[in-house]
Amino acid sequence: MLSPARSYSEVHRQSIDDPDGFWGEAAQAIVWDRPFNKVLDTSLPPFYRWFSGGKLNTCYNCIDRHIDEGRGEQLALIYDSPVTNTIRRYSYNELRDKTARFAGVLAAQGVVKGDRVLIYMPMVPETVIAMLACARLGAIHSVVFGGFAPNELAKRINDARPKLIVSASCGIETNRVVEYKPMLDEAIHMATVKPNRCIILQRPQTMAMLTLGRDLDWAEEMANAEPAACVSVEATDPLYILYTSGSTGVPKGIVRDNGGHAVAMKWSMEYVYNVKPGEVYWAASDVGWVVGHSYIVYGPLLQGCTTVLFEGKPVGTPDAGVFWRVVAEHNVSTLFTAPTAFRAIRRVDPTGELIKMYGKNQLRALFLAGERCDPDTLVWAEQQLGVPVVDHWWQTETGWAIAANCLGIEPFSVKPGSATKAAPGYDVRVLNVDGNEVSPDTMGNICVRLPLPPGSLPTLWQNERHFKEYYLDPYPGYYLSGDAGYQDADGYLWVMGRIDDIINIAGHRLSTGAMEEVLASHPDIAECAVISVWDELKGELPLGLIVLKSGVDRPHADIVKEVVQKVRAEIGPVAAFKSAVVVARLPKTRSGKILRASMRKIADGDDFKIPATIDDPAILSEIADALKPIGYAQQRS
Ligand code: COA
Ligand code: AMP
Repeated sequence: MLSPARSYSEVHRQSIDDPDGFWGEAAQAIVWDRPFNKVLDTSLPPFYRWFSGGKLNTCYNCIDRHIDEGRGEQLALIYDSPVTNTIRRYSYNELRDKTARFAGVLAAQGVVKGDRVLIYMPMVPETVIAMLACARLGAIHSVVFGGFAPNELAKRINDARPKLIVSASCGIETNRVVEYKPMLDEAIHMATVKPNRCIILQRPQTMAMLTLGRDLDWAEEMANAEPAACVSVEATDPLYILYTSGSTGVPKGIVRDNGGHAVAMKWSMEYVYNVKPGEVYWAASDVGWVVGHSYIVYGPLLQGCTTVLFEGKPVGTPDAGVFWRVVAEHNVSTLFTAPTAFRAIRRVDPTGELIKMYGKNQLRALFLAGERCDPDTLVWAEQQLGVPVVDHWWQTETGWAIAANCLGIEPFSVKPGSATKAAPGYDVRVLNVDGNEVSPDTMGNICVRLPLPPGSLPTLWQNERHFKEYYLDPYPGYYLSGDAGYQDADGYLWVMGRIDDIINIAGHRLSTGAMEEVLASHPDIAECAVISVWDELKGELPLGLIVLKSGVDRPHADIVKEVVQKVRAEIGPVAAFKSAVVVARLPKTRSGKILRASMRKIADGDDFKIPATIDDPAILSEIADALKPIGYAQQRS
């Protein structure tokens, strides 16, 4: 373990200059079934592997080891669900028993090491149990966020080819019960690959109809199951696949290995978050996203903490005080969420009356990620809570923070608006289009010099070619993050936005390219663009601009309604696609490229330069005129 006397810059330098020494030492915190023979395997650049030759089991390291070390009665998981008025607590012993038993259920259905198991579940403890049960068997889980529509689920089924799917009868949103089973059935119907079995958790809010011969009931299977033991896997074997949005409608299957992931997760709990075994850690996110994988499930459990699984929203379940109720009731020491959650709370409770009412108890720090945190929100949170508030930057691809104020290494030292400095293991560089490093304070593409640290993606699921083409080929020797920004003279990183078609809606990553594909398939639409526009609560929202085929004379309002419904049905409600406008034509360059960035600036009411390459500048004022009646293209107050 690191000596606390070492400064951030010493720690960071060692991690880059001596990755073998640095991560080799960090790996001592993990229980290995067989020691690794190499820390960093550099035999096949630009592909790197961590801890080759080592064998371990991630579930053992998350649960059983803590029992073996005498902490079986400590709480492992607290399920707090204001939407069902339930609080349930699981000790490490109980979590082990349930997980081993569910692993037995999976094994009885023929699931073995390397098989894929897709998990389409709401925020209930059984989701965590299913993930850990897969890890116990060496099976590869792929969790799909509940807010995605059947069509998106079908794409993931086709790519991951799961032997089995675990799902539930329903999820619960503030305004409705979301029936999962009909969506699952529809997705399986659409998919070209069919699972052998589905295991369905029946929740009391809705009972699902089971398909005879294919579906099994969670509770019945658990009642009859034999517990299964941990299966040792290679450090480089995949632990999970998590699909995330890319530039098109085809999601990318981010692969996470077992060994590097376990080492990085445990290290980050200690040194990024400064959280110790036995403390309560709460990531208010969803297990369907990477934050949920890393910091609801794996990180806190690997560190021997108590993790909080919260089935609710920051506001409306029942009010904007729920975060403070959970923090106080469960003695949360560190909270992690998206800035949008704080914007939502602030809107309802601007003077923090509810924070004062509940108190913040033992809360030591708040971490924010998922989207850029506007300085206003950060400063507000800091003033209301009186604890360090850290904006840190990361991606599904990396699995943990690329840049952060690592509170386990250095004192609180942020600049509002910046994600602080590169985390140990990440050699962050800002490059211009020619691949040269830019000087401080100059915008460019944010890249990481290879190798990426443990825990980051080794590849895309069965698509090494795309992994190389998208992330590694643009700048040989570097990983292209897809984010643009700059580093200041003090080494602070300012992540300002994406360079591709990815949009961040309330901390949820979605693709405007995928939305355009849905719009383009509407029979009346000739061409379209989906741009992201600024939103006070969600940070960004999608906005469609559509050009109709000649001869279409139906009311525009009807067509707009249809495309909004189409995106909801084909991508899901989480896309929050609620606005579109019909325009006569779209602005393009002379070579025919749609000028989305200019339209975004117009919609947001920002100043901008008319691009020199534009084909017909007059179209820009037509766009502004079309956007004004729906509340865009106005000066922001
Ligand atoms: N299953 C089904 N539908 C879901 C869903 C799920 N798991 N999650 C979200 N949805 C639906 C919502 O019901 C909503 O549908 P609607 O259009 O019918 O209202 C839509 O998807 C958008 O959801 P959401 O982004 O959650 O918006 P909201 O208006 O319900 O709530 C916030 C706004 C700010 C409270 C909410 O976005 C939030 O809590 N954000 C924090 C985000 C976060 O934790 N991100 C993870 C990264 S750290
Ligand atoms: P996801 O893969 O869903 O975690 O989304 C990753 C993307 O979210 C990043 O590539 C960024 O565009 C954005 N993001 C996440 N955290 C931050 C942050 N702290 N500051 C700026 N952007 C962020």
